[in-house]
Amino acid sequence: MSGTDEEAELEARLADQDVFEPPEAFSRQANVTDSDIYEEFEENWPDCWEAAADLLEWESSYDRVLDDDDPPFFEWFTGGELNASANCLDRHLADRGDEAAIEWVGEPVDEENRTYTYAELHREVNEAAAALRDLGVEEDDVVTMYMPMIPELPVMMLACARIGAPHSVVFAGFSADALATRMNSADSEYLITCDGYYRRGDPLDHLSKANEGLAGVDSETTTVVVDRLGPNGDDFGHDLGNDQVDYGDLLADHEGAEVDPVTRDAEDMLFLMYTSGTTGKPKGVKHTTGGYLAWASWTSQAVLDVKPEDTYFCSADIGWITGHSYIVYGPLALGTTTMMYEGTPDHPDRDRLWEIIEEHEATQLYTAPTAIRAFMKWGAEYPDAHDLSSLRLLGTVGEPINPRAWKWYYKHIGDEDCPIVDTWWQTETGGMMITTLPGIADMKPGSAGPPLPGVDVRIVDTAGEEIGAGEAGYLTVQKPWPGMLRTLYNNDERYIEEYWAEYSDVDSDDPDDWVYFPEDGAKIDDDGYITVLGRVDDVINVSGHRLGTMEIESAIVGVEGVAEAAVVGGDHEIKGEAVYAYVITEEGYEETDELRDRIVAGVEDAIGPIARPEQVVFTPELPKTRSGKIMRRLLENIANEEELGNTSTLRNPEVVADIQESVQGD
Ligand code: WT7
Repeated sequence: MSGTDEEAELEARLADQDVFEPPEAFSRQANVTDSDIYEEFEENWPDCWEAAADLLEWESSYDRVLDDDDPPFFEWFTGGELNASANCLDRHLADRGDEAAIEWVGEPVDEENRTYTYAELHREVNEAAAALRDLGVEEDDVVTMYMPMIPELPVMMLACARIGAPHSVVFAGFSADALATRMNSADSEYLITCDGYYRRGDPLDHLSKANEGLAGVDSETTTVVVDRLGPNGDDFGHDLGNDQVDYGDLLADHEGAEVDPVTRDAEDMLFLMYTSGTTGKPKGVKHTTGGYLAWASWTSQAVLDVKPEDTYFCSADIGWITGHSYIVYGPLALGTTTMMYEGTPDHPDRDRLWEIIEEHEATQLYTAPTAIRAFMKWGAEYPDAHDLSSLRLLGTVGEPINPRAWKWYYKHIGDEDCPIVDTWWQTETGGMMITTLPGIADMKPGSAGPPLPGVDVRIVDTAGEEIGAGEAGYLTVQKPWPGMLRTLYNNDERYIEEYWAEYSDVDSDDPDDWVYFPEDGAKIDDDGYITVLGRVDDVINVSGHRLGTMEIESAIVGVEGVAEAAVVGGDHEIKGEAVYAYVITEEGYEETDELRDRIVAGVEDAIGPIARPEQVVFTPELPKTRSGKIMRRLLENIANEEELGNTSTLRNPEVVADIQESVQGD
């Protein structure tokens, strides 16, 4: 059958199907099989979360499951003591020491793959922990990591966890400026980075960017540099500075060292993760040792159906929360084999992911809708050329998935045999919140599903009143959960302001008066299935990555010749949303392509290539309300070439036609 015929057949058979039952063979073996779990958790809340805590090994057990005495500063498993690295490594040694912990697939430059057994990973983490201590890292010092998908990243994360030093991982694609901002914000004096890495077969300089960032860091720093490129990096001419040490040398100096895991309180910080918000300043989301690890583990088990004998593959980058929870902490805490892929899905060819899954016999694939839309565009012949029958479950995360992409994933990757979990969550939630339990629940393409058992999600109107099925409203979480962020680093006030103020009685001591607002719009259907509609704040979601419009705007107005800028998200076939920048030039500057290029470069320098504007539209004015607020909604409509509706409330309605012309003329 030709590709078009097959597509047509799929369309016909699956197009009308709105509900999919979990495959029987999957349900028979699923980790969670009893649908009473919803009722049980509700009745036993918050004690139900002992089920999550029970997945961990505690040095001393907790006194209270939930301490809600001082909302919204909720605490979980208080009095308990544990170490995350011991939970991810030491406790598996006896039974699974020789089994693979990490299967790393490198960029196919020299066909390099590396497998770390639990024993090997344990050994390297111990050496790294000893080395960090010798460099002066003490308990509670924040260690920043600026690394691509190389095994030394999880090694260093676990080494930090072992000595009680919180890590702050900065996505390698972020710019030097972004690194400096995050290090300064966290008062971090240590950086782990690398010389470079491969992108589509070519070596890419990373250390120069790291060094540029370090130049903007206020405190004295010590840097560890992993040699990823070897002689292929010679052309970059890197020399290590006085305060920089080579990772290989450091480990050699600590060969065979053993470091006892430091005893951490459940509420001690495990890591910081910076994410974009409404204002220009990134937010340092604080996650803890007990609650977070319990949440990552429980959701990995219940939703991703992870079992020790699996080879589980999440294609995210560890530089984002998905990689933290679902490449590193959740899977390793459960003692499974977790895969890491350094490269891109289209190099050397567009079947790279399918080749990896076939070769490693991966049992789960957890990826993003943006990737699925790209696979779909490339065509089914790429997955069809590979045996993907090892796959048992598929997952998506990061943005809404459209039913067509869902069905393509279901058919061409899952062969109609794998349940799909569409998982809604955020950096702040630590792990999944809304999704179907794969062995139990029917799936509805386009809807993430019901909240997980024990998670109290409600859709409300602007006044906070719960609204009925079918109506669009705002997503809220009405009860705390173990994986939740505890605060924003050094900024309790902003924590309350950003997440709680909207729907809570902020003067109340009663935990029931506190409602968490994730800033997403959503609707619910008669079966309690939730469709997430997207952000309702000034945050745009490009390929599942969260970018603050303010951050991008401040980068643009920093460019010489720019007077004012407004950034919005426009629809994009693959990325979901793309950055549209509307720019007013300064007196004396021309609206030229040269200025456009400098604007794009300015954004890349300030944030990174992911924030690169799709279009830069010059305009003499921005549409503003009478009170002077920029009408973003209108700019979005223009970007999407949609109906504009009423523009009579504008102070300057005449500007709209001008802008429309510039967008369409481009
Ligand atoms: C935002 C969080 C969760 C890790 C990756 C992104 C959107 C996330 C879904 C989904 C619809 C989703 C939301 C959320 N989002 N998952 N399954 N369906 N939207 O983490 O960078 O913190 O972004 O991503 O808008 O608020 P993040």
